[in-house]
Amino acid sequence: MDQKFETQSDYYQILRSQMLADADAVTDDKQLEVFRVKYLGRKGLISSLYEEIAQAPADQKPVMGKKVNDLRVEVTKIIEEKKGTLGQKDKIENRSSLDVTLPGVASSIGHQHILTQTVNDICGLFEKLGFVVQDGPEIETEFNNFAALNIPIEHPSRDAFDTFYLDCKDPSNPNRNLLLRSHTSPGQIHIMQKSKPPLAVVIPGKVYRPDAVDASHSFMFHQIEGLLVDKHVRFSDLKGLLTHFCKKFFSDDIKMRFRPHFFPFTEPSAEVDISCYICKGKGCSVCGRKGWLEIMGCGMVHPKVFEAVGYKKGEYTGLAFGMGVERIAMLKHGINDIRIFFENDSRFLKQF
Ligand code: DAH
Repeated sequence: MDQKFETQSDYYQILRSQMLADADAVTDDKQLEVFRVKYLGRKGLISSLYEEIAQAPADQKPVMGKKVNDLRVEVTKIIEEKKGTLGQKDKIENRSSLDVTLPGVASSIGHQHILTQTVNDICGLFEKLGFVVQDGPEIETEFNNFAALNIPIEHPSRDAFDTFYLDCKDPSNPNRNLLLRSHTSPGQIHIMQKSKPPLAVVIPGKVYRPDAVDASHSFMFHQIEGLLVDKHVRFSDLKGLLTHFCKKFFSDDIKMRFRPHFFPFTEPSAEVDISCYICKGKGCSVCGRKGWLEIMGCGMVHPKVFEAVGYKKGEYTGLAFGMGVERIAMLKHGINDIRIFFENDSRFLKQF
């Protein structure tokens, strides 16, 4: 120890002040390393103090040891703190070297799901003709989903295997359970119960059926229902309306085919086919070599349905139609698996 210091205490004091001044002067990583070596290095000032302790008289060793240890702990702490502040400084300096003339990273903006786009396109075409878009509930009564639509109790679609029945009583008929609508046709009942003709509505929405999921079936899918009721609505109105729609939606040069069919809530009823717009009716893999694509069901509203909603017998006639949104989107865009709509795979969704 230097003779000019009168006591060890003085020496530690001075050494500590020197250390603090040195620490203050450190402004980068290099200087911090020099500082560390000066105090904590193998030949540094603190190591040399430990050597002195070894040679000191036994009664002074504990006091000297504590002071040197305290100093070592303080230096170590200062080095850690400095590392943190120098790191921060580095980051800020790097930020200031950011080239603001480089193009930014654009955040991608989402867009409507292909099914929403299809619903909007279809409803948009009917809106242009004066139809109004309406909503209907997804939880229905047996009356609205079946009975009011002239679907008798023994009809297979009312079976528990074909409809999701809820574990919940229908408040308007406690002997019956509520269910998830299996089609959008009950929307017709809601509209007619609350308004008088003339009326023209399209009702898009989700429907549910306990089908095993495969490339063409899903337990949930979307339909669009159409209903027009007035005095003297004729089957030719239905044909004209749906022909106009299909030509606008698919292509002007398609041919239409109305095939007689049966639906309980319409009479007469038909299934609507369009000539395959891919092979122009010659037959290809999309139309299953038939040349025709089935697009929707339709018909003239059955008098029993008018009766169920309380319309006076014979006062009105109406047309109705219903189509599957997934099916139409698949046909239009050449998609061959319904499951892909619901997998949320952005590689698929981004294409539309
Ligand atoms: N509800 C029928 C179904 O789910 C579709 C349908 C067919 C609706 C004919 C109609 C119609 O309004 O007239 O299969």
